[in-house]
Amino acid sequence: MSAHSEMKLKEYIGQQAELDLLRFITCGSVDDGKSTLIGRLLYEAQLIFDDQMAEIATDSKKKSTKSKAKVDIDLSLLVDGLIAEREQGITIDVAYRFFNTDHRKFIVADTPGHEQYTRNMVTGASTADMAVILVDAEHGILTQTQRHSFIVSLLGIRHVVLAVNKMDLINFEEAAFDAIVANYADFAEELKFSSITAIPLSALEGDNVVDRSSNTKWYKGPTLLGYLETVEVSASRLEHSFRFPVQWVNRPNSDFRGYSGTVAAGSISVGEEVRVLPSGQTANVKEVFIAERELETAIAEQAITICLDKEIDVSRGDVLVAGTNPCEVSDQFETTLVWMGQEKGFIGRSYSMLIGSVKTAATITSIKYRYDINNFEKLSTESMKLNDIGEVTIRLDRAVPFESYDSCKPMGAFVLLDRHTHATVGAGMINFSLRRADNIHRQPLVVNREAREKLSGHKGRVLWFTGLSGSGKSTVANALEQSLYLRGMRTYILDGDNIRHGLNNDLGFTDAGRVENIRRVSEVAKLMVDAGIVVLASFISPFRSERDMARGLFQSGEFLEIYVDAPLEVAEQRDPKGLYKKARRGELPNFTGIDSDYEAPASAEIVLNTAEESVDVCVGRIITYFDEAEDEHYH
Ligand code: ADX
Repeated sequence: MSAHSEMKLKEYIGQQAELDLLRFITCGSVDDGKSTLIGRLLYEAQLIFDDQMAEIATDSKKKSTKSKAKVDIDLSLLVDGLIAEREQGITIDVAYRFFNTDHRKFIVADTPGHEQYTRNMVTGASTADMAVILVDAEHGILTQTQRHSFIVSLLGIRHVVLAVNKMDLINFEEAAFDAIVANYADFAEELKFSSITAIPLSALEGDNVVDRSSNTKWYKGPTLLGYLETVEVSASRLEHSFRFPVQWVNRPNSDFRGYSGTVAAGSISVGEEVRVLPSGQTANVKEVFIAERELETAIAEQAITICLDKEIDVSRGDVLVAGTNPCEVSDQFETTLVWMGQEKGFIGRSYSMLIGSVKTAATITSIKYRYDINNFEKLSTESMKLNDIGEVTIRLDRAVPFESYDSCKPMGAFVLLDRHTHATVGAGMINFSLRRADNIHRQPLVVNREAREKLSGHKGRVLWFTGLSGSGKSTVANALEQSLYLRGMRTYILDGDNIRHGLNNDLGFTDAGRVENIRRVSEVAKLMVDAGIVVLASFISPFRSERDMARGLFQSGEFLEIYVDAPLEVAEQRDPKGLYKKARRGELPNFTGIDSDYEAPASAEIVLNTAEESVDVCVGRIITYFDEAEDEHYH
């Protein structure tokens, strides 16, 4: 989409920022008549596909290599919170349609209904104010209806329409309709809806979609469009205290300094006090601009620029909040997380989190449970797979201003990205902060690392050996340690087999077990480096993410990655512990190289080819590299 079109679309949305814009999601499947219903709604409402919109659509089509779906997505991603999708070019199949009547403008998100499309539905629902849940009158409430309702409820949608479609096929029978409604109300008791409006419809015939049907004289409620035009959903966003995540600092010249972004909640007027979070500094609002125009008061959803009456430190990612009612700041959260990655999500693995305009490192610290989304049962799990929804705790590398998703969606919604591919792997909602950040402090110590290193006569370092089982990691590490010892250095070997007898004897060899193994071991290595020791860590450490996580704990130059690269055939032939044979016989599941992955390092400092180089040669090469690196470090 061209910058021009983006601006136009933003303008379009900006113009509708007041209460006359309703975003909703339709849930159901083609079989339920969803496409027919949307088609009928658009057609009968005599929608005017805004000229601007039409222009944007053609514009995107020109640029897009893909089909219609892709065009819809380009539009969608300006609208919703999962902006990362566009950056990553992941196709999440959500079609957004825009239409308007005399009373309101509408954005409807239409997502596929099957379980494997949970992430699509979540994407669509994440910005919706209400949901239309479609059921087929002939079939009544199905598992699918329950799943959709559950997801919609989890995503903070509080108003739903139960659209009972195909009433014509059951002769518009009141009793049958009542039975479906009662059945739904029963099950929905567990959900957090504040209103459920059931409407008997025939999308095909048009009954009760726009015009009241003469076939349902017994029905006294609104038509679907009547409901959509009048339902009140977004007032709370305006009543909320002012929240404004700063997207960028607008500084065209030295005379002007403004903070630009979209108002997440509440309103702000010239003269009012704001507080900058996380720093806590305060200032008063001097001017507010929307596009080029000056405003007295700005409200939720408007894209504005704010100027303050004094120079204070504000940067991208900070949040301006009402001076008298700031929000919390924390680095640990309990969240509801939807997994969207092909690769599983693991406890202990590090991801990037995008929350507001902040990007920071984030680690899943525990998975309390995941839901069986068909019956809301809570299941225990050690990892999150595609389309899983779970209650998960997350720790960030820095404290961020936030609100619970329930009280302010834009301040409580986040996405997780893979740190390597930058693909979106999760979307989440903050439930509450764990506050641990406030209660745990670092103790200052008098004898510090520098003092200990002085005593050792050398710096603390990590030499991290990675490679297949039987590749020669432990053999080389052992020989290397002897050489270092003879030089009078203080060393220690952390070895997979040994550590798994003690500290990590509760961990197995599933992917999740290996992630946690390396997380703990790298923390131990960090402590040992702080103690002034040269640590030789020898672990298969099959995943790039965890090796990078380990590296990330250290300063540059402190961590050397040594890839012990023996071909699988060679390692298997050596088979020092007879484990490959066992694995081949099927007696040892999840064996690296056989039925568990090994991701070879792409940029290890040293690569050893143990099939061709002797142990002495390998040790010699490491020592040469190490000495040169240390020399460089000191001179
Ligand atoms: S890691 O993958 O989590 O880094 P680690 O290095 O601690 O593994 O442990 C690997 C050692 O455990 C191997 O050298 C081998 O002796 C033993 N082992 C037992 N089961 C397995 C398995 N399924 N896969 C790999 N190694 C295993």
